[in-house]
Amino acid sequence: MIILGVESSCDETGIALYDTQRGLLAHALHSQVAMHEAYGGVVPELASRDHIRRAIPLLEQVFAEAAIERGAVDAIAYTQGPGLAGALLVGASVACGLALALDRPVLGIHHLEGHLLSPLLAADPPAFPFVALLVSGGHTQLMRVDGVGQYTLLGETVDDAAGEAFDKSAKLLGLGYPGGPAISRLAEFGDPMAYQLPRPMLHSKNLDFSFSGLKTAVLTVVKKKTTNLCEQDKADIARGFVDAVVDVLVAKCMTALKQTGLKRLVVAGGVGANLQLRAGLDAAARKRRFRVFYPALEFCTDNGAMIAFAGALRLQAQPDAATRNYAFTVRPRWPLDELRI
Ligand code: KG4
Ligand code: ZN
Repeated sequence: MIILGVESSCDETGIALYDTQRGLLAHALHSQVAMHEAYGGVVPELASRDHIRRAIPLLEQVFAEAAIERGAVDAIAYTQGPGLAGALLVGASVACGLALALDRPVLGIHHLEGHLLSPLLAADPPAFPFVALLVSGGHTQLMRVDGVGQYTLLGETVDDAAGEAFDKSAKLLGLGYPGGPAISRLAEFGDPMAYQLPRPMLHSKNLDFSFSGLKTAVLTVVKKKTTNLCEQDKADIARGFVDAVVDVLVAKCMTALKQTGLKRLVVAGGVGANLQLRAGLDAAARKRRFRVFYPALEFCTDNGAMIAFAGALRLQAQPDAATRNYAFTVRPRWPLDELRI
């Protein structure tokens, strides 16, 4: 079975072809980061218009790379939500238009389910059940995953997402958008003892997170400086920030594994690309004999491969999940634990 995947929920247009026999056949991505950089964040209207420009050339690219005819596709999966409404509508209309022309069924995929299942695309995938840490620009959640469509929310952020804290703090330090990779690179040169920033909710009994106070702590440090921030100051603050985020994420993941009695942790979403977080999780897990699984770096941030793959897993579990109903709706807000098979 060959599934075409279409992702357009935010500022990346991703298209991919996944074959349940042969694996990933091709994937192509266009990131709008350079376009939004000038505004310091994603401009939804510009995002939608750019998805329109990119979708068809990327489609042509994946079919050429996979060297298959369009008719070889058995079903088309697209990101139905959550995300920016206008951006989601572009991907949904491309998917449904193509499906109508090819007379193939379509299915809407939850963007976070795509992230959550993306580590299963790797050569050595984790077995169910596992704990998943979803850390993206819009979400920070711990889930218990018992199988495809069987997700139980264990805890989540009560305010900003981890990626959002990275982006906002990077902005305060005068770094570009998106802030995650920039702040992470800078932190490598920072002194870990220079700034001890708060670890919000580190000792709370539950598995919830809070990151808005940390961003405020960065703001306070920046404001206190009477002179312009030099490169070393920025690196020291970045280091204090990254260490605080990593400490909280690592501690909550270990608690989640302990509470559930599970041994496997899966990390997904853009912040999962963070090398300090990976090092922190690996060290803590090694001590306790847990195993941590990550998607390939290129599949941490938004991409079409994870949507094609999630579509394939859903169809294997529930063959009638795809329909020829092309009157699509998108779901900009869509809690993951509402999903069922
Ligand atoms: O999953 P994603 O591509 O999009 C959403 O669904 O939100 O995640 C984007 C987020 C951004 O906030 C970005 O700053 C963050 O992931 N990010 C990182 C890194 N790479 C991307 N954060 C920390 N370190 C990184 N290396
Ligand atoms: Zn995402």
